[in-house]
Amino acid sequence: MVGATGAAGGTLLRVLEDRVFPIGDFHALASARSAGSLVRFRDHDVTVGEVSDDILAASDIVFFAAGGATSRRFAPVVAAAGGVAVDKSSAYRMDPAVPLVVPEVNAAALRGHAGIVANPNCVAIPLAVVLGPLHARYGLRHVTVATYQAASGGGRALAAELAAQERDDAYGRPPTRQVYPHVLHGNVVPGGWAMVGDDTEEETKVIGEVRRVLDLPELPIGVTTVRVPVSVGHAAAVWVELDQPADAAEARELLANAPGVLVVDDAATQQYPTPRAVAGCDEVHVGRIRADRSRGNGLALFLAVDNLRKGAATNAVQVAELLLLEG
Ligand SMILES: NC(=O)c1ccc[n+]([C@@H]2O[C@H](COP(=O)([O-])OP(=O)(O)OC[C@H]3O[C@@H](n4cnc5c(N)ncnc54)[C@H](OP(=O)(O)O)[C@@H]3O)[C@@H](O)[C@H]2O)c1
Repeated sequence: MVGATGAAGGTLLRVLEDRVFPIGDFHALASARSAGSLVRFRDHDVTVGEVSDDILAASDIVFFAAGGATSRRFAPVVAAAGGVAVDKSSAYRMDPAVPLVVPEVNAAALRGHAGIVANPNCVAIPLAVVLGPLHARYGLRHVTVATYQAASGGGRALAAELAAQERDDAYGRPPTRQVYPHVLHGNVVPGGWAMVGDDTEEETKVIGEVRRVLDLPELPIGVTTVRVPVSVGHAAAVWVELDQPADAAEARELLANAPGVLVVDDAATQQYPTPRAVAGCDEVHVGRIRADRSRGNGLALFLAVDNLRKGAATNAVQVAELLLLEG
């Protein structure tokens, strides 16, 4: 595992334990900064090593959770040696030669991989899990999304910065910031990502990756990505326009039977998806399913996902499980 000391990598360790993934030899790798530190895995302290071509070339499966530049440098080494790189970064997501896989939606795309498999971004994954069955039943015509994204989605440094700001505010000290352009605690920030023209890079990723996983290259999608002062758990408000009319009760039942989805939907008793409730879960929670009468065949819903589990680690481990199943 490359990036074993990071936010996504730390959760990968837990998910591999939880799912009892079959492992012979295991190497926890990161940069030279963390070499020699320890991570806990299966009741053992494992010493973190510095990523190197030799270890990667001798590995059957390598999980990459260390950023795009590291994946671009090292994933080809794994593939060239006959292993498979399961990549959490954005490096290969839009590469037509590399499958972009959400197992509940497009597991078949994995066949014919050439040693690198990409995983979508932590917003694109839950959207694909929920939009996939809606498209199969009703046909998607248009999608609009507003996100509420947790600090841990920006890595361990932003999660730690938010926690420090919470303490500062609690003790009446002025909160400080280093890794993010605004104080996140007590705030809601529609930015903080690199910009691509007028859109955040995150918005362009969500649009491109959802289209690719659903195999709907022309699907109109409008997205505004927003960071909120939550530690773990991304949420999104989603409005869809469908080819065929969708009754809310029928859509609720369809999603209740969809793989990877847990419907939490009884607003009268205050049951709906929240980041706090979804943290630690592998399913995408969906609720507030109702007609959107502002548009023809419109449906509105709210979803939440643990960005570190299904948004990152769980999807990657599911991909690796499929690789084993396919031999
Ligand atoms: N956080 C999420 O919710 C999430 C969701 C989906 C995808 N991802 C993707 O997962 C990747 C990691 O994100 P993160 O949030 O876990 O970041 P993070 O908390 O900042 O962790 C980064 C990890 O990468 C390692 N690393 C950095 N540069 C390296 C290098 N040159 N060589 C080897 N290892 C290096 C770090 O090791 P050191 O300890 O040595 O610095 C650390 O283990 C990114 O590509 C991100 O897009 C994250």
